[in-house]
Amino acid sequence: MQKALAPIFLYALFALTFYFLALEAHAQPLEEVPFIISPDNVTLEMLNSAGVKRGDHVIDLGSGDGRIVILAAKRFEATGLGVEIDPSLVERSKASARNAGVANKVEFRVQDLFKTDLASATVITMYLLPEFNLQLRPALLALKPGTRIVSHDWDMGAWKPDRTTVVAVPNKAVGREKSSQIHLWTVPAQVDGLWCATGLLRGASITLTQTYQAFAGTLAWRNRTRALAGTISGTELRTPAGSSGELVLQAADDVLRIASAQGHMALAQGASFRRAAGASCG
Ligand SMILES: C[S@@+](CC[C@H](N)C(=O)[O-])C[C@H]1O[C@@H](n2cnc3c(N)ncnc32)[C@H](O)[C@@H]1O
Repeated sequence: MQKALAPIFLYALFALTFYFLALEAHAQPLEEVPFIISPDNVTLEMLNSAGVKRGDHVIDLGSGDGRIVILAAKRFEATGLGVEIDPSLVERSKASARNAGVANKVEFRVQDLFKTDLASATVITMYLLPEFNLQLRPALLALKPGTRIVSHDWDMGAWKPDRTTVVAVPNKAVGREKSSQIHLWTVPAQVDGLWCATGLLRGASITLTQTYQAFAGTLAWRNRTRALAGTISGTELRTPAGSSGELVLQAADDVLRIASAQGHMALAQGASFRRAAGASCG
């Protein structure tokens, strides 16, 4: 009996080994990102584009020789963290930071960028590859609303940049274009769902559907509805000034507040809405 089972056991062992090997092959990491510097004019434009200033904390994902974080500290008085997989580049970055007199404002770590806690960043910079950007997208979207993200050359697919700047790079080492694109995003607040009015407007509700930094939905009050559509920049939702006038909402944690309203909505200015606990405001 035992003899008869042996081939089955061997076959099962072989099949399992093959399955796990195939799984591992499928989960292979992305193509490696080589060390290629962002030239000085591109580095400067990346930080200008994000509006880096004192009080900002800049995290460069794949920091190479540390140039972005060092410039952020030296010229813009920000603090910074560079994470880099190559230890020799981290050593070089630390030495450059000391030479630039900003060693007390910046930190460089040998660390996988995918394992880095990004929560302390107010600005994220990156010069990676398209598939790295796409893999990072969910983590970037989950950052504090208002966090700015700047990417050299590569975008994030369906999450379109808020702005793209093109900078001339006559000696560009990669690609045919002799220019670099600098994409900027501001992390939008997550406002998808149902919001119920509190205070004077009690009974009113806002229902929103969000696609990255665009929203659409309705504001309903006393059998009347107003269609809402516009863009989200950080914590601010803005509808264009159409026939019913511009509407600006501010999102903070689980509260949406009408920060400014025009036309027949003007009286609603200051009204607040709480995120619904269930499927209705009841
Ligand atoms: C194109 S270079 C950009 C360097 C620098 N940010 C700049 O713009 O000048 C990308 C860097 O990412 C690093 N890198 C690649 N994969 C990484 C990973 N998983 N974690 C951390 N660094 C990584 C590479 O070693 C390389 O230095």
